[in-house]
Amino acid sequence: MERTYIMVKPDGVQRGLVGEIVKRFEQKGFKLAALRLMTPTEEHLKQHYKDLAEKPFFPGLIKYMTSGPVVGMVWVGKGAVTTGRKMLGATNPADSAPGTIRGDFCIEVGMNICHGSDTVENAEAEIALWFPEGVATYEKSEDAWLYE
Ligand code: TYD
Repeated sequence: MERTYIMVKPDGVQRGLVGEIVKRFEQKGFKLAALRLMTPTEEHLKQHYKDLAEKPFFPGLIKYMTSGPVVGMVWVGKGAVTTGRKMLGATNPADSAPGTIRGDFCIEVGMNICHGSDTVENAEAEIALWFPEGVATYEKSEDAWLYE
């Protein structure tokens, strides 16, 4: 079953949006496989965002992401990566539809409250980076009310 890495960024944690974001993924039908409040190091974040190292906004991004604790989580389910991104909304909240997390709760691209893996491959790499000890798995029988 597909897995995605979702992270509530420091602004989302400070603004008390952890429960709201967890609620949306839970109500959608995805299963929580890991969740942890953590204060990542600069090195850890540079690894997470390594593809963006050359971007002009990279130093600001690292400063923002180290400004407070984050909540990392792993959600499991059919199409979790693509659907998770849809639930988050566009990178820039100004382009995010109402009803999405960014569309409903934030204004600026540099404070867009949440992260979601963009491909299955990146999701697996991010899960390994943030939860090296591994994550929970579920019995297939529990899916009987979610999948045909
Ligand atoms: P990116 O991986 O392009 O977007 P996403 O988070 O939707 O996968 O960018 C990572 C983060 O970098 C993004 O969530 C917010 C920040 N960012 C900026 O601050 N300015 C920008 O112009 C862009 C494109 C991103």
